[in-house]
This record gives sequence, C-alpha cells and structure tokens, in this order.
Amino acid sequence: MNDTHYIITGAGSGIGQALAILAASKRAKVIASDIDEKGLEETRQKVMAQNGWINTHRLDVSDPQAIIDFAAMVKKNYNPQQIVLVNNAGVALNSGTFVETPMQDFEWLMNINLYGVIRMTKAFLPLMLEQNNGNIVNVSSIFGIMGVRYQSAYCTAKFGVKGFSDVLKFELIDTNIKVSSVHPGGIKTNIASNARVSEGQNAKQVAADLEKFEREALINTPEYAAEVILKGIQKGKSRILIGRDAKILDILVRTFPDNYFRKIPKSMTERAKVD
Ligand SMILES: NC(=O)c1ccc[n+]([C@@H]2O[C@H](COP(=O)([O-])OP(=O)(O)OC[C@H]3O[C@@H](n4cnc5c(N)ncnc54)[C@H](O)[C@@H]3O)[C@@H](O)[C@H]2O)c1
Repeated sequence: MNDTHYIITGAGSGIGQALAILAASKRAKVIASDIDEKGLEETRQKVMAQNGWINTHRLDVSDPQAIIDFAAMVKKNYNPQQIVLVNNAGVALNSGTFVETPMQDFEWLMNINLYGVIRMTKAFLPLMLEQNNGNIVNVSSIFGIMGVRYQSAYCTAKFGVKGFSDVLKFELIDTNIKVSSVHPGGIKTNIASNARVSEGQNAKQVAADLEKFEREALINTPEYAAEVILKGIQKGKSRILIGRDAKILDILVRTFPDNYFRKIPKSMTERAKVD
C-alpha cells in the first residue's frame, strides 16, 4: 500500500482514527482531516508512534469552499497517484420525534453527514477519473438501511449516503474506481455522547437515553470496525456491514421490507424510563 493515499475525514476520533492508524500500519500514506484539531493531533501521535506516514489538516466537511481548497491542496502538495477516499466524518442528533426536530438541526446534520460526503466526492472524483483508479468509501450506517424512530435526520442522511453510493457504483462500473458503502452497527465511539441536543429536549431524558444506548447498542470497538472496513476495501466490496447486529438487522429489513419496523424489538428503539 506504499503508493496509496488514504484521505480520511473525521479521523480525529472513533472509526476514522482507528482506520487511520490501521492503514498507516500497512504502509499506506494517511491524509487525516477533522474539525477537531486536538483529536487529529492524537491520531497523528498514535501513527507516528508506529513510524507511520501521516499528515493532518483541519477540515470542516460542512464548508463547501474549505473542501474545494482542501482538494486543491492535496493535489498540489501530495500528488496522490492512488486515492482511497474515506468519507467518514459524522455527527448525531438528539432531537426526539421528527415533529419535535428543529429544521435548523435537521439541516445542520444533513450538511455534515450527507452533503459532506457528496462534496468531498465532487472534489476528488475528477482526479480519480483522470487516473482511472482508487476507492470511494462512504460511511453510512445500519440506520441507512432501516428507519428508526427518533432518528429522522440521521436516517435521512445515511439513506442518502447509501443511495448516492449506489448511483456511483453504477456510474463507475466500467472504471477502475471501486465504491463501497459502509454500514456499521453499534460501535463504541464518542458519537452518541457528542450528539447535539435540540432545544426543548428534556436533559434528564437525554442523559438516560444516552446511558441506555451506550449500554445496549454500542457493541463493537472502532478497531474492529477499521479492520472490517480495510478488508472490505481490499476485496473491493460494494457493501460493508460491520457487526452481527448490522447483519441481523439487514436480513430483517430484506425479509420484511414492508413492515420490518414492527418486528424490531420495541425495547431497542424505546426511550429510557425516567422518573
Ligand atoms: N459509532 C457508531 O455506532 C456508528 C454506527 C453507524 C455509523 N457510524 C458512522 O461512523 C462515522 C464515524 O463516527 P464515529 O462513531 O467514529 O464517531 P466519532 O464521534 O468518534 O467520530 C466522528 C468524527 O467526525 C468529526 N466531525 C464532526 N463534525 C465534523 C465536520 N463538520 N467536519 C469534519 N469532521 C467532523 C468529529 O470531530 C469526530 O472526530 C460517522 O459517519 C457515523 O455516523 C457510527
């Protein structure tokens, strides 16, 4: 992987950080970006500790101009010949039902979780086409395969990432560019604890929901997720499911496409009890 540049967004924490470390350990060159400079520095230190190749750049994937500038800088400074673009940066939102969700929060999430992926791809795909090689790896979720209550913005964005990726797979079928959509189940990262909380949400309920979600749903480690993603990329897999939970839920959706949401155990999506 000596000549491969992994361009990873959201690489300052969780899955993105673990993938940066793993890819660098396999001798890939890692261009890591994140909005969180402290997290990025931690990633850089961890990669340097194993003598890996890494450069870090602050990048907010909800900023269209910053993405254009970033892509131009990457081309000029690194002249990458083989790109693996990992659109991983993402956020969560604690906003209750769709009716309770303020539109500005919905749009905030879409700008990062969906438009971030689309804009990064728009910026890098022309270069990949010129070279006729590379991988686009878009991190969706199992919530990009199944709709879940209280997750209207997140599911909309993640279904969007899947739809966008499927179109790219089709359009790039005769090229040497592989496209993968990644669908993790619950992974123990900071995403839930860093979630934005919408105005009007009850703080006690939010804290109890977080505790329940972290205890019941976040099962696998980011290192495990990174291994599955890397293997998936190397095999050129078009769909990468991570964890037994994601695989079971995917089967459930395919078996009961019209009413899978009635088959999901109620306790799984129920809000935590608070007194
Ligand atoms: N953890 C899970 O259970 C899980 C499950 C399914 C999908 N995912 C997806 O995996 C991806 C990685 O999430 P994670 O679980 O590692 O979370 P995480 O919070 O540990 O990492 C996400 C990273 O994205 C960065 N980020 C947030 N907003 C950004 C922005 N505007 N620009 C650039 N970077 C930004 C954060 O600073 C953070 O470092 C996300 O797309 C998430 O939706 C996570």
